[in-house]
Amino acid sequence: MAQHGQRVAVLGAGIMGAGIAQLAATHGHEVHLRDIADEVLNRARATIEHSLERLVRKDRLAQGDVAPTLARLTFTTDLRATVQAADVIVEAVPEVLSLKQQVLAEAVDLAPGHALIGTNTSQLSITSIGAALGDASERLVGTHFFNPPVLMRLCELVRGLRTSTETLERARAFADSLDRTVVVCEKDSPGFITSRAYAMLRLECLRMLEEGVASAEDIDTAMKLGFNLPMGPLELGDMNGLDTYLHAIEGLADAYGERFRPTVGLRNMVAAGQLGRKAGAGFYDYDEDGQRR
Ligand SMILES: NC(=O)c1ccc[n+]([C@@H]2O[C@H](COP(=O)([O-])OP(=O)(O)OC[C@H]3O[C@@H](n4cnc5c(N)ncnc54)[C@H](O)[C@@H]3O)[C@@H](O)[C@H]2O)c1
Repeated sequence: MAQHGQRVAVLGAGIMGAGIAQLAATHGHEVHLRDIADEVLNRARATIEHSLERLVRKDRLAQGDVAPTLARLTFTTDLRATVQAADVIVEAVPEVLSLKQQVLAEAVDLAPGHALIGTNTSQLSITSIGAALGDASERLVGTHFFNPPVLMRLCELVRGLRTSTETLERARAFADSLDRTVVVCEKDSPGFITSRAYAMLRLECLRMLEEGVASAEDIDTAMKLGFNLPMGPLELGDMNGLDTYLHAIEGLADAYGERFRPTVGLRNMVAAGQLGRKAGAGFYDYDEDGQRR
């Protein structure tokens, strides 16, 4: 059953952490958002305020809900204050196994013994992250939200080898409380359901581009209009960063072999610093405001 009004600790106030914190606060939870630097927290606060205003303009949120939502959010660098009374912890630090292990091990030491522990990894092994948590690994589950969390309706839950059934059900109730639709990846496997399938789709688009089968623009348009996708796989790759994508498919190639091997063209783009929108160039060119030329 969905439970509102829980204490939620979000670790990492970047793109995903800020979005997950906003989502939880909008749905009545009391949220502590933690990062390592005040400037990141200030940016997260500004992003959330801006996003709430936009939701009001689009009639997706009542004006009267903005102030109470902001009042439920605490921005802090203090880990102890963040987790000491947490019912739910959601980790959203960078996609590095050792960092996630360290951040969660520190948090678990300071958190109550009942806290549900979610990790927002896109494709790392939940079981490996849990290896740093001792018995608390039974309370660890993959809670994979999508970008931007306030708009994307999916929450992919991932069961690690030691994740208990009670943990999975509590995570489902938490996602329900956020009005997300849940899918469960029952077997902890790299890329889970979503990142694995989508990485392959983008890889095939890349191969077509490099073989000269069609232009980037036509490949993206074909995917958008032919399969009702909001964005093409190449333009979305530019948005997320091609270095991130290369790193992701290298991990999938390690797990599943040749079929995920990165293309030479992708390696060259990353080596040349053509990382997508953040670098001003990727499959497409961008101006200083990140708009496509
Ligand atoms: N960006 C996406 O589209 C997306 C989508 C789904 C999942 N993810 C996953 O979500 C996670 C976070 O990604 P992101 O895009 O938000 O990254 P990001 O780089 O925007 O944010 C990560 C934040 O973590 C902070 N951080 C680092 N060490 C910390 C610590 N010890 N304690 C607290 N905060 C710390 C950083 O300062 C940074 O603000 C990754 O695992 C990523 O794979 C990302």
